[in-house]
Amino acid sequence: MLKLFCSTAKGRQQLIARRARVAELVDAHGLGPCVFIDVWVQVPPLAHMFYLFLFFLFISLLFFILPSLSSVPYFPSNHKDAEPIIDSLASTKPHIMVDLGAGDGWVLFKAATQMKEQSLSTRFIAVEINPLLCAILYVRRLFHPNRKNIQIIRTDLFTFHIGQYVSQKENVCIYVYISPWMLKQAIQNIRSQIPKARIVSYMYPLNEKAKRVAVGIHKTYTY
Ligand SMILES: C[S@@+](CC[C@H](N)C(=O)[O-])C[C@H]1O[C@@H](n2cnc3c(N)ncnc32)[C@H](O)[C@@H]1O
Repeated sequence: MLKLFCSTAKGRQQLIARRARVAELVDAHGLGPCVFIDVWVQVPPLAHMFYLFLFFLFISLLFFILPSLSSVPYFPSNHKDAEPIIDSLASTKPHIMVDLGAGDGWVLFKAATQMKEQSLSTRFIAVEINPLLCAILYVRRLFHPNRKNIQIIRTDLFTFHIGQYVSQKENVCIYVYISPWMLKQAIQNIRSQIPKARIVSYMYPLNEKAKRVAVGIHKTYTY
């Protein structure tokens, strides 16, 4: 009868030693034909992990410098405009707030803190394409008091399937701070799925009359 032997080993030396030991046992007990299946678990040495980390940084860097990977450069909304921005978002009374191209997420995290303080169960979705910025978003969310209501999605904002994450019945508020020539395409994608979505655009107006304009260092337009 054919026997099957399974073993795991943490390195080549351990693997060879274990195989030899099993072969000895097979010989000693006359167990006849057998098949060895070795699962070699290799724990990467620190140097490998460091190179992996450098590779990750390199790929992320490409997202900062290549417009073909990230069509809108990373540039955070001005922190001095926190109040007009958060007030504009709150004025839409959202069930869900989406930051399209969330960057390091400071706007979204600040809004999430405020909504929690007001005991509101607003959900937050950060959409970001840059892997390094996504990693920062994940780490920041870990320490956020309202983390259970914050979702991070690594995807392209121009093809983002928002309909999968929100329902037509919910008040959706989209926050955008992206180049004016990209704004139209991004908003079209959202409105084709959620026609009633409210839009809050930092610095750049849409080609329609705003319901509200908050003035700080820069203007924040609410539609
Ligand atoms: C001007 S920054 C705004 C950051 C943040 N919303 C804020 O106001 O501080 C634009 C962000 O959009 C991201 N981005 C650019 N192209 C994108 C794309 N196609 N899909 C998703 N995010 C993108 C960039 O990585 C960057 O973080």
